[in-house]
Amino acid sequence: MSTYLVTGAAGFIGANYVHFLRREDPDARIVAVDHLGFASNLPNLDSVADGVTFVRADIADLETMMGVYEEHKPDFVVNFAAESHNDRAISEPTIFMHSNGVGAQVMLECSRKIPVRSHVHVSTIEVYGELPGTAGSFDESSPLNAKTPYSAAKAAGDQMVRAYMHTYPEMDIRMTHCANNYGPYQLPEKLIPLAITNILRGRKAPLYGDGLQMRDWLHVEDHCRAIHAVLHARLSKIEHDAVFDSAKLPIFDISARHEVTNVELIRRVIELLEKDPEEWIEHVPDRPNHDRRYLIDPSKIERDLSWRPLVEFETGLAETVKWYVENQAWWEDIFARKGELQVSW
Ligand SMILES: NC(=O)c1ccc[n+]([C@@H]2O[C@H](COP(=O)([O-])OP(=O)(O)OC[C@H]3O[C@@H](n4cnc5c(N)ncnc54)[C@H](O)[C@@H]3O)[C@@H](O)[C@H]2O)c1
Repeated sequence: MSTYLVTGAAGFIGANYVHFLRREDPDARIVAVDHLGFASNLPNLDSVADGVTFVRADIADLETMMGVYEEHKPDFVVNFAAESHNDRAISEPTIFMHSNGVGAQVMLECSRKIPVRSHVHVSTIEVYGELPGTAGSFDESSPLNAKTPYSAAKAAGDQMVRAYMHTYPEMDIRMTHCANNYGPYQLPEKLIPLAITNILRGRKAPLYGDGLQMRDWLHVEDHCRAIHAVLHARLSKIEHDAVFDSAKLPIFDISARHEVTNVELIRRVIELLEKDPEEWIEHVPDRPNHDRRYLIDPSKIERDLSWRPLVEFETGLAETVKWYVENQAWWEDIFARKGELQVSW
């Protein structure tokens, strides 16, 4: 029986991955770690709680995390834990560096001291920065060019992952960069669930600036399948020439190549809620330093691991809207405990 250590498990994607694991490998032991920070929501794990050991811990605390590794002896580690909201990173960048930079290194160090079968570090498309114009895309060989406090802190974690890959080739570390995720259990501070829950509460959906920012969207279930494929892939040893070409490292970029502007997306969400987009959008000041466009090329994971997105965007978005409509108690409880989540600039 394998033991999985999943960090950031009380957040959006981490919780979805724990649900996925319970279905995919029902006999596995799952140790779910989270420090229960602002973006966490422990009830995300309620329906799988009987098959999961939850540990409240800060991934940036080496002594505590070594204790978790010693006690549970994980075979597989997936590190989702990070501060993830670009808006909050502008007002509180220090905690982002703590979790996304130091935390990433501490997790790697634990897997070095107490070896695991494989360790996936979950990163983001945003470490590559912004694309000019409307053409082109990033891939695993693109330079890191983060420009926001969130993405720069994630890029710090990425650099540590790359350093460990080169320095300790006997460790089995892998890394992913994913496009924007949508789906159930996302905190309603983020674009899609904020729009849905605002409309359901009789308020307009906020739209930053001109709304022409382009985003690359993937359903969280497809992201979970991709991570699981990366975690279990049989990969060859890292060769020295990977120093000159990061595409030769065990790094996989994940996307459904589905680009849409924020305004198109929010209009579609409002239509799915059977309202008129002309009446239900509120134009609000843009976030400072807001990326205009990024897109990621998933050719490597498609070619090497035969991964493909299975959730078609229109269907996935409709199911997501339906999930928030049907799970009102889930998000009402969040607003009752955390207060309003919309950030104003
Ligand atoms: N949401 C997306 O669209 C997206 C896309 C690509 C990559 N990612 C990456 O996926 C990961 C998960 O993102 P998410 O959207 O689920 O974020 P989230 O904010 O919903 O969840 C992150 C979780 O990590 C926990 N956490 C933060 N710092 C921690 C620490 N020091 N110790 C322990 N737990 C800590 C939080 O409490 C929270 O529960 C992040 O690494 C993020 O960078 C997200």
